[in-house]
Parts: sequence; structure tokens; C-alpha cells
Amino acid sequence: MDLDIVTLPVGGDNYTYCCIAGNEAAIVDAAEAQPVVALLEKRRLSLRLILSTHHHGDHTGGNARLKKMTSCNVIGGDRRISGIDRIVNDHERVVDGPFSFECIAVPGHTRGCFVFYFGEQAALFTGDTLFYAGCGRLFEGTAGELHHSLKKISLLPPTMHLYCGHEYTLENLKFARSVEPDNAAIVERAVAAGLQLQKQNFSGPSTLAQELATNPFLRTGETTIRRNLGLPDATDGVVFGELRRRKDHF
Ligand SMILES: [Fe+2]
Repeated sequence: MDLDIVTLPVGGDNYTYCCIAGNEAAIVDAAEAQPVVALLEKRRLSLRLILSTHHHGDHTGGNARLKKMTSCNVIGGDRRISGIDRIVNDHERVVDGPFSFECIAVPGHTRGCFVFYFGEQAALFTGDTLFYAGCGRLFEGTAGELHHSLKKISLLPPTMHLYCGHEYTLENLKFARSVEPDNAAIVERAVAAGLQLQKQNFSGPSTLAQELATNPFLRTGETTIRRNLGLPDATDGVVFGELRRRKDHF
């Protein structure tokens, strides 16, 4: 199945994604209803599914209204998600009409965070777990949990396209550069992301390969990062926790 993925920048810096197969749509993180309704009307699409990566209001604010307007179902991994119809488990596969994807549990940002993996189309929707060149804050989970969750993501094919929940890319790259100043790929990515943001108002998608080369939270084994943190011999988990702590105060 071919999947057309449309990025909708909404609110201050949120991203909603619309996956289109034929005349059917699946929304990932309906932050607001209105931009989704406008796209559905413009493309004459019927809304079949809403996939909510987690329960935060800036990712689910449109769920109730979209459910009222359409007969869509809301899928996610947390009972607290507005309008939830189906609660999924780790590695559960969902096949619904033209849409087929795997749900992967990634606790850390919240207890019930999930990412949605469309393996056939090489697309992964990461919500607030993995940002371009960064990762989410720890609201409910521990650094160890989020580290483990990011490890799960990092084992997927490197050609995977990643679609994240917020536009924080340039800030994240500034932090990345501060802990790994000799990494030329970070500087190149900052230039490219700046140009992309001027042109189209969003800096994604990225690829997992790009994240592995520039995202400090996936690079806890790097000597330069460890030296800059003063943790040359610490475990990856400890390095990750220290990176997250420093980023919170950056
Ligand atoms: Fe969030």
C-alpha cells in the first residue's frame, strides 16, 4: 500500500500527521481538529483512525471533535487519551482497512507513550519520545526507561523515516553541538534544517541514520560526549541521564 504522509504544523510548535491511503486517512496526534478537518475536505478524505502517541492535551486536543464529526476510532496505549477506543500493547500489530502498523511501547516521557511503526512504508511516528536531534522530557518515567525506549527505536532499520511531535530541531542541535563540538554532521544538519524551516515550515522527516549521526541521546557511547560530561567510564544509562538533565537546564 502506498502511503502519502502530510505534515501539518499546528499550534506553537506541534506536528500533526495525516497518512493517506486512497481516500482514507489516519491521523497521528490530532493536536487540533480544525487543520485536520480542512485537509480532509480539501483532499476529500474520510477519517478512519486517530493514532495518539500519548495522552498530553497538545497531542489529543482534536480527538473529541473529530470523533463527533466522523466515525473514526482512536488508538493508543494509555487510558487517559481523549476518546480512546482501542488500547494497544507493546508490539501489537493493527490492521485496519488500508492501514497496517506496529505499536511499540516507549515509556519515559509518559508511562503510556507509544510509537507507531509503518514498516512497509519505512515510517515511524515518534511523538514526544524522539525529536529531531533530541528526545522528550521525563514527565512520568525514569531516565533508564526512556533510554531503553530510545534503544528500541535505534534498532529499527536506519533508512526509517522519523516523524516527531514538535519542532525543536534548531534548539536541539545547539545542545548537541555543545556536548559534541567536533561532530561536523551536527553543524551540517543545523544549516540544512534552517534552510528547510525557511522553505516549508517544518524540518522533518529525518532518518534514523541521521539521528544516529547527530542526536546525542542516541550517541551515549561517544568519547567526546563522555569527556565533555566528565563521565568517561560511566554506563550508557548514566550518560543518558546526565544528558537529559543538562538539556533540561540548557
Ligand atoms: Fe507530550
